Amino acid sequence: MEFFIDTGIVDEIKAAAKWGIVDGVTTNPTLIAKSGRTQADVIKEICAIIDGPISAEVIATDTVGMLKEARELTKIHDNVVIKLPLTADGISACHALSSDGIKTNVTLCFSANQALLAAKVGATYISPFIGRLDDLGQDGCQLIEEIRTIYDNYGFTTKILAASIRHPMHVRDVAMIGADVATMPYKAMEQLFHHPLTDRGLEQFLADHAKSQK
Ligand code: G3P
Repeated sequence: MEFFIDTGIVDEIKAAAKWGIVDGVTTNPTLIAKSGRTQADVIKEICAIIDGPISAEVIATDTVGMLKEARELTKIHDNVVIKLPLTADGISACHALSSDGIKTNVTLCFSANQALLAAKVGATYISPFIGRLDDLGQDGCQLIEEIRTIYDNYGFTTKILAASIRHPMHVRDVAMIGADVATMPYKAMEQLFHHPLTDRGLEQFLADHAKSQK
């Protein structure tokens, strides 16, 4: 399973990169706005830190505008993946980009049928937002299960990129289901390391070692 970090904050990416578990990065307009910098500057810097897929999202809502933005974004670096919204125009743009061999990430997916549309136009990644579904009292992980079944039924190669992950249980759940990638904020990634028994056990080992040295 691949781990992507979901942020536009370069310092978070640098810190997580040191752990050796980051395979790629996802951003969106909200995350870029939080960085207070331009998308082009942030993406350029991220590409110098992580050698893996880096998603950059288009702002245009019409196919022609999306393709124009995609052409500019792909000039930044070969690792840039074009993130497109799951709308009719976004799916149409995805079809055009897939035909040109450009990697895509179809975002804002909230249903299995939407994921089917993205797979049919050859999206590289589909991003179902599990946390936002949970926020509505729905089951985000059930959506991941549905998409996994459908993609496996037909041999679609679009990768399931579980997004809107809020906590370590989401990571465990989507890994159990067989999502290809989990993208998560820095905080959720950092939480994966922790267990109170690990801390307590280590404390005990160090105390016993110190005693044995006396
Ligand atoms: O990048 C897309 C997604 O991961 C956003 O998550 O927490 O804003 O629902 P969130």
